[in-house]
Amino acid sequence: MNYFAQLYELLDYSSAPYSGFSVASIVITRDGMEYRGVNVESAAYPTTICAERNAIHTAVTEGARRGDVREVHILARNAVQELVKAYPCGSCRQVIAEQSGNDAAVFSYASATDVSQHSIAELLPFGFLGEEL
Ligand code: THU
Repeated sequence: MNYFAQLYELLDYSSAPYSGFSVASIVITRDGMEYRGVNVESAAYPTTICAERNAIHTAVTEGARRGDVREVHILARNAVQELVKAYPCGSCRQVIAEQSGNDAAVFSYASATDVSQHSIAELLPFGFLGEEL
């Protein structure tokens, strides 16, 4: 399914006063539920949380189990209000891999029709999934 319209509306909920870079994410779990997240920035910069992790953490809070994440949809708008394709940062790739059993599809949108799809295994090759712990 195409989530552009929902992502576009969600962008306005982003709180990005420092970078001006707004990100919206919708995560779909195994049972078809949808969870939303936006980036929330902080004056103590590292405290900032990305849209993707916010969506996944909400999914877990609402009952999703480890391995349940199936799809992560992402749309971003830069400081000059252009829609741009964003790929998850390294920290988010780690969390997506762990919460999907290394089996999520990641969709990055620039418009309703310009959408890139990659597997999390492509985005995070040789990931550390905790099996060695
Ligand atoms: N950001 C996300 O929320 N997701 C991404 O995929 C890339 C980066 C946020 C973090 C920060 O608030 C802003 O974008 C600029 O890095």
